[in-house]
Parts: sequence; structure tokens; C-alpha cells
Amino acid sequence: MSKEVNSESVSLCPLNTAAAPEQELLCIFGTGDLGRSLGQRLLQCGYRVVYGSRRPHSCGPLPPGTQAVSHGAATQSANLIFVCIHRQNYDFLQTLAPQLNGKVLVDVSNNLKKNLYPEANAEYLQRLIPGAHVVKGFNTLSAWALQNGPSDSNRQVYLCGNMAEAKQAVTETATKLGFTVVDRGSLSAARELEDFPLQLFPEWRLPLRLAVGLTAAFFFYLIIRDIVYAYVVQGKDVSFRIMVSLANKVFPIVSLIMLSLCYLPGVIAAFLQLYRGTKYKRFPDWLDRWMLCRKQLGLLALAFASLHAMYTLIIPIRYYVRHRISEITISQIRENITYKFDTTMAWRTDSYYSVGILGFGLYILLGISSLPSVSNVLSWREFSFIQSKLGYLTLFFCTFHTYLYGWSMFLKPSYYKWYTPPAYMLSLVVPSVVLVLKLLLLLPCVDRTLTRIRQGWEKTDPENDSKKSLLT
Ligand SMILES: Cc1cc2nc3c(=O)[nH]c(=O)nc-3n(C[C@H](O)[C@H](O)[C@H](O)COP(=O)(O)OP(=O)(O)OC[C@H]3O[C@@H](n4cnc5c(N)ncnc54)[C@H](O)[C@@H]3O)c2cc1C
Ligand SMILES: NC(=O)c1ccc[n+]([C@@H]2O[C@H](COP(=O)([O-])OP(=O)(O)OC[C@H]3O[C@@H](n4cnc5c(N)ncnc54)[C@H](OP(=O)(O)O)[C@@H]3O)[C@@H](O)[C@H]2O)c1
Ligand code: HEM
Repeated sequence: MSKEVNSESVSLCPLNTAAAPEQELLCIFGTGDLGRSLGQRLLQCGYRVVYGSRRPHSCGPLPPGTQAVSHGAATQSANLIFVCIHRQNYDFLQTLAPQLNGKVLVDVSNNLKKNLYPEANAEYLQRLIPGAHVVKGFNTLSAWALQNGPSDSNRQVYLCGNMAEAKQAVTETATKLGFTVVDRGSLSAARELEDFPLQLFPEWRLPLRLAVGLTAAFFFYLIIRDIVYAYVVQGKDVSFRIMVSLANKVFPIVSLIMLSLCYLPGVIAAFLQLYRGTKYKRFPDWLDRWMLCRKQLGLLALAFASLHAMYTLIIPIRYYVRHRISEITISQIRENITYKFDTTMAWRTDSYYSVGILGFGLYILLGISSLPSVSNVLSWREFSFIQSKLGYLTLFFCTFHTYLYGWSMFLKPSYYKWYTPPAYMLSLVVPSVVLVLKLLLLLPCVDRTLTRIRQGWEKTDPENDSKKSLLT
């Protein structure tokens, strides 16, 4: 009875390797950073580990409970071998080819650059040892991540390989280590997997470039209109405005334009589908790419809106604002004038603050719903309701906030310095176009046709029809 309890406790808490004879033995070639981290993690998860090393007696500290032997000896003791060696050192493995026949070799290697070698590292390894079953995997994890294990269930391990049983064996090990496995198919996908760690935010590139471009363009435009104009025409140095006033114009403007650019491709796609009368034709590549980076566009837009909210918070404590207020108050006292309370102005300012806050609140909701931990628990319909329906509401509130802020400024010639419109007016162009086009799409007759197209209905092509009737 006590024996049973003991053996069970060993298999549930397999830290004591000596007391668990049924523990599987795995082999790791290479006692470097990754080899040691992987070995430690495997031990923690109940495996026994043997290292294959060039210098088994002087290879530095290894995880306690493991041992290092020659590559040949290590090969004989295990069926699954992790090759934690850089690709340029693979050649010696060829001498072990007869012993490695039928073994599962996990290639974890990465390269420093894309296309460094004519073939993927894993394919090269397979060519060196044709009798082994090479599986590419674990290369997207760092030694640190491997040692600590996944902190949540989202940490993924990508695998590919030609033999299903070999992939299954590696999948079982990865799952035991606490990772989620994504099977990317045959070994021909190895190059793609090896390129993963070399990518640097690929889907953020276009949105980031756009954000930097718009920020630079509007900063330049505003410096000319607000700073240079005041200096040249009025002889005033107001360059201090760059730090807060200009920043608090540029950031919301860029945010509003980028927010509208999240919704413009959807509208273009809808009109394209209406024009073509089918949803079965591919969108042009540029539209596809644009649609695919909407999340990043939206998140960057949210970051810019947050900056605007923070800059707005500090307006009352600015030296310039406090000075202006006291100056106006003192001049009123001196001249004994009382400015009448302007109800319209009160309505206008309160309205644009309030609408801005509502827009910002919804903006944050969109941001929260795009977190994988949140979007994973939402159904497609719920996600699409938030992103699409509430997204349009966000765009509407933010656009309305800006219109209310502008109010009647567009009617006053003094605002058109050097015949240029205020920057906020420029920022309203794209959102207004998107909202008008969306309204057109919501017209019952248009919406009906679009819905039918999206349900699979196709406009019949008269040319095709006449050809068909000739044939019959
Ligand atoms: C803070 C923030 C976070 C964001 N996070 C995300 C995010 O995580 N993920 C994301 O994708 N976007 C995200 N976005 C961008 C944006 O909110 C979404 O892409 C949103 O879904 C766009 O709505 P839409 O109505 O324009 O597009 P969609 O709902 O994608 O529709 C676009 C077009 O696709 C076609 N279409 C739609 N449904 C069908 C159908 N059933 N059959 C055939 N064709 C169809 C139509 O032509 C339609 O016009 C985010 C934006 C912000 C501001
Ligand atoms: N480090 C990471 O975070 C990480 C993440 C993902 C993938 N990888 C990949 O994992 C592999 C190992 O990376 P690493 O960081 O562990 O490298 P490393 O610290 O340099 O270790 C490599 C090991 O390979 C062995 N080795 C070195 N030269 C050799 C030779 N000429 N012939 C045979 N064996 C040789 C050595 O072990 P012995 O002295 O015991 O023989 C050495 O410790 C690489 O392919 C890398 O791309 C690493
Ligand atoms: C917390 C919510 C918000 C508050 C309190 C707020 C407040 C303000 C204030 C006080 C101004 C005038 C700034 C100035 O005088 O220079 C302003 C301008 C503006 N806001 Fe907001 N806002 C909010 C959210 C938003 C959001 C979410 C957007 C959309 C992206 C937005 C877009 C704009 C734009 C485009 C301007 C005009 C900038 C200019 O040219 O001066 N605001 N807002």
C-alpha cells in the first residue's frame, strides 16, 4: 500500500530523478546556454537528461542530476535528441549517422541573418543524416523562456517535420513542458520557422512609418503656421508653444487620422464588393495589406489619443495659461469690465470635452478588446460588434469632438494664416469622408445588396449569361 503511494507521489512530483525508473531519458547535444536551460526544464518536468558533448569532463556546470558523455554514447541511450549546437558545427554529426538512424533529432537552431544558407538548417541536418527523423522546433524560444517555462498558456512552440510519429513525440515533450504546440507542416516550412526570430515587428512597420510621417508633417505645418507666422508677421517669439501647445495639436490630429484609416479599408472593400457584385474576387494586394495592419494602426492611434488626454490634463497648471488668466483678470479689475457669461461658449466647450471623453472611453474599450486574453473569450460576433460597430461610434465621437472644438473657426479669415487652413481642419477630411461613405453603405437599398453579396449572392454577368444560352 505504502509502495503504491510512493510510486504515485514520484510520478506526480518527478523532481527526484533517481527514484523514478520509468522516467524517459532524453538526450541533448551541446552544453551551451540553450542546452543547459532546456536540460533544467526537462528535469523539472520529470525527464532524465543525458548530454552529448565534445568535452564531457570539462563542459562546465550542468543541471544537477544530469551527466555528460561523448556524443556517440549519448546517442545510444535516447531516442529523442535535441541538437543544441550552431549550424556551422553540424558537420561532425555525419560521422554519427549510423548511430543516429531512426532517432528523432530536434533542430532548435537559428541564424543571424535571413538567407544565410541555401537551405534551412533543419533540411541541412536531414541531408547530413538521411536515416534520422528531423523535427524543427523550439527555435522561437529563448534560453531564458525555456528555463522559466511559460508564464501563461499562450506561449507557443512551432514545429515542422516530415514524419508524423516524430512530430508527435516532440509535441508530447513540448506539451509536458507546458507549451502549446503549433504544427506548421512538413520540413519545407523550416526556413519560415527559422526566419521568425529574425523578424522585428513586421506588422508594425507600416503603421509606425505612417505615424512618424504624419507627426513630422503636422509638426512642420504647425511650426510654420503658429511659430514662424507669429515671429514674422507679429514680431512675437512664441517658440515655447512647441512643447505643449503644438504637441497637443499634433497628437490628437495624428490619432484621428489613423483611427479613420482603420475604417477606410473596410468601406473601400464594401464598395469594391458592390461594384464587382461578388465577394469571391480577391481584394487588391494593397487593400489586403492595409486590412491586415488595422489592429496596429488602431493601437498606435490609441497611444496618440492617450498622449492628447495627458497633455490636456496639464493645461490648467501651465505657466503660460496661469499667466494669461491672471493677466485677463487683472485687466478686467483695472478697467472695471465684466465679461458676460457666454452660454453658447459654455455649451460648446462642455460638449466638446464630454464628447472627447466619450470617444476616448470607447477608444480604450477597443484597445482592451484587442488584447489576446480578452479577444480569446469573445465570440466572433461580440468582437466584431465592439471593433466594427463601437469602433464607428468612437470615430464619430472623436470627429464630432473636433468639429465642436473648431466650431465657427472655419468661417473666420484670421484663422487662415498665410492662406493655410488650421491643422485640425485637415485632420477632419479623412474621418468625414469615411463617415459619409459609411452612411451611404447603411442606406437600406445599399445595405440589402451588400448583405446579400456577403451571404454569397453574385450579380449575374450578362456576357456569361448570353454565352451560356448560346451553348444550350
Ligand atoms: C484601439 C483599437 C484596437 C483595435 N484592435 C483591433 C484588433 O485587435 N483586430 C482587428 O482586426 N482590428 C483592430 N482594430 C481596427 C478596427 O477596429 C477593426 O479592424 C474593425 O473591425 C474594422 O471594422 P470594419 O467594419 O471597417 O471592418 P470589418 O468588419 O473587417 O469589415 C471590412 C470589410 O470586410 C468585408 N466583410 C465583412 N464581413 C464580411 C463577410 N461576412 N463576408 C465577406 N466580407 C465581409 C466587407 O467588405 C467589409 O466592409 C483596432 C482599432 C482600434 C482603434
Ligand atoms: N541561446 C538561445 O536563447 C537560443 C534560442 C533559440 C535557439 N538557439 C539555438 O540553439 C543552438 C545553441 O545555442 P546556444 O545559445 O546554446 O549556443 P552556445 O552557448 O554557443 O552553445 C553551443 C554548444 O555547441 C557545442 N559546440 C560548439 N562548437 C562545437 C563544434 N565545433 N562541434 C560540436 N559541438 C560544438 C558546445 O557544447 P559542448 O562543448 O558541450 O560540445 C556549445 O556549448 C544554436 O543553434 C542557436 O541558434 C539558441
Ligand atoms: C479625454 C478625452 C479628451 C479631452 C478632455 C479632450 C480635450 C481637448 C481639448 C481641451 C482640446 C483643445 C486643445 C487646445 O486648445 O489646443 C482638444 C482638441 C482636439 N482633440 Fe481632444 N480631447 C479628448 C479626446 C480626444 C480624442 C479621443 C480625440 C481623437 C483622436 C481628440 C481629438 C482632438 C483634436 C483633433 C483636437 C484639435 C487639435 C488642434 O488642432 O488644436 N480628442 N481636445
